[in-house]
Amino acid sequence: MVQPSQAMEPHRPQWNTSLGFLLAAVGSAVGLGNIWRFPYLCYANGGGAFLIPYVVALLTMGIPILMLEFGIGHQMRGSAPMSFARISLHWEWLGWWMVTFVMFGIVLYYAVVIAWCVCYVWYSLTLAWGADPNAFFFHGFLGTTAGPQVIGDIRSPIVLALVIVWVVNWLVVFFGVEHGIERANKVMMPLLFGLLLTLVVWTLTLPGAGGGLLCYLKPDFAKLGNPHVWIDAYSQVCFSLSIGFGIMVAYASYLPRKADLTRNACLTGLLDTLVAFTAGLAVFSTLGYMSQQTGKPFEQVVQHGIGLAFVAYPQAISLLPSFSRLFGVLFFLTLTVAGIASAISILEAFSAAVMDKFHYPRKAVVTVLSVVGFLGGIVFATGGGLAWLDIVDHALSHYGLFIACILQCLLVGWIYKAHRLREHVNAISQFRIGWFFDFSIRYLVPGVLTLLLVSDLIKDLRQPYEGYPWIALLLIGRDWLIITLIAALIVALRPWRKAL
Ligand code: PHE
Repeated sequence: MVQPSQAMEPHRPQWNTSLGFLLAAVGSAVGLGNIWRFPYLCYANGGGAFLIPYVVALLTMGIPILMLEFGIGHQMRGSAPMSFARISLHWEWLGWWMVTFVMFGIVLYYAVVIAWCVCYVWYSLTLAWGADPNAFFFHGFLGTTAGPQVIGDIRSPIVLALVIVWVVNWLVVFFGVEHGIERANKVMMPLLFGLLLTLVVWTLTLPGAGGGLLCYLKPDFAKLGNPHVWIDAYSQVCFSLSIGFGIMVAYASYLPRKADLTRNACLTGLLDTLVAFTAGLAVFSTLGYMSQQTGKPFEQVVQHGIGLAFVAYPQAISLLPSFSRLFGVLFFLTLTVAGIASAISILEAFSAAVMDKFHYPRKAVVTVLSVVGFLGGIVFATGGGLAWLDIVDHALSHYGLFIACILQCLLVGWIYKAHRLREHVNAISQFRIGWFFDFSIRYLVPGVLTLLLVSDLIKDLRQPYEGYPWIALLLIGRDWLIITLIAALIVALRPWRKAL
C-alpha cells in the first residue's frame, strides 16, 4: 500500500477555498434528479412519510459513502483509479470502471437531456409547444421512432444545443480546478438557489397550489411497510449524491491537507436534500394549479421524469395568465444550470484519472474528451434516442452504480480497513465519526445494495424493463456495462508513467 505525500505531487491543483469545494460537490450532487425525480417519488411513496426512508437512507448510506469518498480522495490524493491503485494495484480497474461508465455512458445522455432543456429555454420565448405539448415533445421535437431498433433521423435542434452544452463543459473544465470548476460553481450555485427560490415563491402564490402541496406531502405511513418504498429511497440517495462514480474522490483529492471532511459530507448531503425538497414545492404547486385550472383530478395531471419537465410543465406554463414566457425560461434555465454543474463533475472525474495515470496535459485531455462526449451523445439525439437513453440509464444508474458502490465499500471497508479511514477523517475533522461508520461501510451498505441489486434483477427478469425487446436490453444495456468494464481492465493493466 502506498501512502502519498504532498512532496510526491507538488503540482496537484487545489481548491482556493473550502466553500469552493463544497459548492462544487453540491453542484455535482444537485442535478436533474433533484428536480424531476425526488418530488414524484415523494408523491408516489407516501408523501411526507417518504421523508423517513429518505433520511434513513441518507444517514445510513449516503453520508457514510460521501465520507468514504472524500476521505479516500483526500488521503490518497488521486482520482478514483489512482486512489484505488494506491490501496491495492489489483483494484485499480474498479476506479477506471466507475469513471468510464459515467463518462462514456451517463454524461453522454445526461448532456443530451440538458440540451433538451436549452432548446426549451428557447421554445419558452414563444410558447412553441402550442396546444398539445405531448405531441410537440415526442413527435415534433424528439421525432420518437417505434423503438430502439429504429434509429430514425438526427434531430438538428438537439444536436445544436448539444454543441452549446459541450462547449460550456469544455470551457469550465479546460481552465482547471480553481479557475474553471470552482469559479463556475461559485456563480452557478447561487444562481441555481436564486432561480429555485423565485420559482417556489411564484408557484406558491398560484391558485390551487395548496391542493398540489397536500398531495405532495400528506403523509401516508402505511406505505412505509412496502419494501419498494425503501428501495426507491436508497436508489434515489445513491444517484442524487453522485456517489459511486469516482467524482467525489477526484474532487476531494484537490483539498488542502487540512480540511473538514465530515462537515463537508454532512453539508453536501443536507443541501442536496434541501434542494430536492424545495424543488418539490415548486413542482407540486404548479401541478395543483394545473389541476384546478383544467378541472382534472390531480392523478391525471401528475407525471414524472421527462413527462413532468417537458409535457406537464409546458402545459402549466401555457395556462399562466401573465409572464408565462418568463416563467418557462426560469424553469428550464434552472434545469440547465443544475445539469451543467453535474456534467462538468463527470468530465473532471475522467480527465483527472487520465492525467494522473498518463500525465497528458489537462487542456489536451479535456478537449479530446469533450469532442468524444459530444460525438458519443449524438446517438441519443436521434429519433430512437429516447429509448436508448432509457435503456442505458437503467443499466448504468441501477446495475453499474450499485455494483460499483458495493465493491468500493468492500475495498475500503475490508482491504484498506474502515477504521483506518475513520482515523484519518477524524484527525482533521471537527465532528468525529464513530463505530457506525465502520459498520455501515463493511456490512450495512454492501448488504442493502446487494438486496437492491437482486430485487432489480428479479423485476427485470420477470418483465423486460419498460417492455423493450430483450435483444435491445441485452445488446444496449448489458453490453454497455461489459464493454466499459473491459475498457477499464485494459487501461488498468497499462503501466503507470510515474511511480505511484
Ligand atoms: N446527482 C445528479 C442528479 O441528481 C446526477 C449525476 C449522476 C451527477 C452522475 C453526476 C454524476 O441529477
